Amino acid sequence: MKAVIPAAGLGTRFLPITKSIPKEMIPIIDKPMIHYIIDEAVQSGIHDIVLITAHGKEAIQNFFTRNHELEDRLAGAGKEEWAKDIRRIAESCNIIPVIQESPAGLGHAVGCAKDVVGNETFAVLLGDDMIDTSPYSGVAACTKQLIDIQRSNGMSVVGVMEVPELDVVKYGIVSGSKISEKTFRVEQIVEKPSVKDSPGRHAIPGRYVVDPVIFKYISETKPGKNGEIQFTDSLLKLSLNEGLLAHEFIGDRYDTGDRIGYLDATLTFGLRRPDLRDGLINLMKKHLKD
Ligand code: UTP
Repeated sequence: MKAVIPAAGLGTRFLPITKSIPKEMIPIIDKPMIHYIIDEAVQSGIHDIVLITAHGKEAIQNFFTRNHELEDRLAGAGKEEWAKDIRRIAESCNIIPVIQESPAGLGHAVGCAKDVVGNETFAVLLGDDMIDTSPYSGVAACTKQLIDIQRSNGMSVVGVMEVPELDVVKYGIVSGSKISEKTFRVEQIVEKPSVKDSPGRHAIPGRYVVDPVIFKYISETKPGKNGEIQFTDSLLKLSLNEGLLAHEFIGDRYDTGDRIGYLDATLTFGLRRPDLRDGLINLMKKHLKD
């Protein structure tokens, strides 16, 4: 299976840094946020990553390409571990970059992967949404949880999480009829509904495992909200014709494309690092006193 990672957006919520640095390359501690997302794909058994990118965002694919000169220099300076780490990042996955000529929406971005994906079921992971399963022992990576549901039911699946009522305006919201404790068959999907028009509180934060027929529905989808081709509109067509499941995954989600979500992830991952934890706690105490 391949994973499609859309990372061609403008990142306006993170301006001014995104004027020259791709949002997906902003670090959580010392790893770009997209590295955590590619790690999730790899932990789910996926190594071929179709990276939807834009002109000027080459830093992303460069990060996942081997840099022999740097590796040799590090090794020559006795920093073998660093050299191995740098090499491991490049060898963990096979990045297939595809350019989205203009940011015409998430549906359009996924549609750009059509020729590379072909006629196979594929996963989609958004390039700025982190889902962390490490606090839950024995729980598989989020994408792997969805792959298992897709395989046992033979139907496309979106990962969902319950959000507070006032937050429905930020997400694609789904509702439907339960087929098991954590899984339901989707009957309605609305992109960023108002609180009063929302069909429920199950939000799609950015994980999907979909049948390639979705490419047909994307090509039939007309520009919707903000003149963009919305992925949720194509998923609605898929749900009506082929059927679509929603599965409440286990994991903590961080919207790292947003400043507060980014700070939340930075603190969480920083506090987990043995080399940083004490220093970070001291800093937090100092700032909370002020
Ligand atoms: P977002 O809406 O969060 O990203 O899309 P954005 O458009 O870059 O951000 P803002 O709202 O302007 O701050 C989720 C993911 O989909 C990608 C983005 O790069 C991001 O990783 N995306 C979005 C595309 O690849 N192409 C698009 O046309 C839109």
